[in-house]
Amino acid sequence: MNAFDLALSRLRPRLPSPLEPVEDERLTRHGLRLLLKRDDLIHPELPGNKWRKLALNLRAADGRPVLTFGGAYSHHLRATAAAGRLLGFDTIGVVRGDELAGRPLNPSLAGCAADGMRLVFVDRATYRAKNDPEVLARLLARSPAGTYVVPEGGSNALAVQGCVELGRELSGAADVVAVACGTGGTLAGLAAGLDAGQRALGVPVLKGGFLGAEIRALQTAAFGGPRGAWSLDDRFHCGGYARTTPALEAFAQDFEARHELAIERLYVAKMLYGLVALAEEGAFAPGTRIAAVTTGPRS
Ligand SMILES: Cc1ncc(COP(=O)(O)O)c(C=O)c1O
Repeated sequence: MNAFDLALSRLRPRLPSPLEPVEDERLTRHGLRLLLKRDDLIHPELPGNKWRKLALNLRAADGRPVLTFGGAYSHHLRATAAAGRLLGFDTIGVVRGDELAGRPLNPSLAGCAADGMRLVFVDRATYRAKNDPEVLARLLARSPAGTYVVPEGGSNALAVQGCVELGRELSGAADVVAVACGTGGTLAGLAAGLDAGQRALGVPVLKGGFLGAEIRALQTAAFGGPRGAWSLDDRFHCGGYARTTPALEAFAQDFEARHELAIERLYVAKMLYGLVALAEEGAFAPGTRIAAVTTGPRS
């Protein structure tokens, strides 16, 4: 084990993450078994897909400063800042919205700053152009030499490779694995780690219908081509990112009460809502074992 892997293991991640059966009569009455893949329990400060997506990137960064991107409430920024504090490297967070500069920080950004992250506020046009080499070069010019860049949401080839283990951990345990998708990086890796005969079902939380092509591109970057059986169901975004509906909120509260479990609202709730709707539609054959990945905790 090299020094970085040793430092990572000292953080004592719960890996493989627990797999918990859940009795939910809305699924059992269709002959379906539901299991929760509790990635939210991997680590208190680097929970869920944050751990899986950051680990290989941080190993590649090898102690150099890490620069990454996010909105004012980004869990990815929060997790990167925490990783910097826990593992002892510098972090720079490029935050969408120059109107935030000089204002009191919200709790999420205050947490980043307390962990030592240097926050750089940029206007929305610059933020949108962040993958443009010139814009990136300008940001890097103000950062230490050798700074390692992790894209928004943490999704790049190494992140996708880091999510392969999520699929492998489910070997033999489920027929369908459901996961909520933002950038699709988690699904791209998960699907690649599944056995033949298992399939991944992604529930995008953003409106747009563009995600399939992005997942194929991420798989090509990570593995050289498409991997695994996966599909997307675009009907459960409830209006788009961070949007909700009374029905979704009622569903999440009811699920929490039934199973004594806090449900993350932006991603996990939409995925579970979609699964229950699909079960009602008869989308799964009786006997199907469905693992639902709880990719993050309720903050
Ligand atoms: C809790 C949670 N679930 C799912 C996702 C979606 O992950 P991805 O962007 O890899 O599709 C995110 C975003 O990172 C998240 O914070």
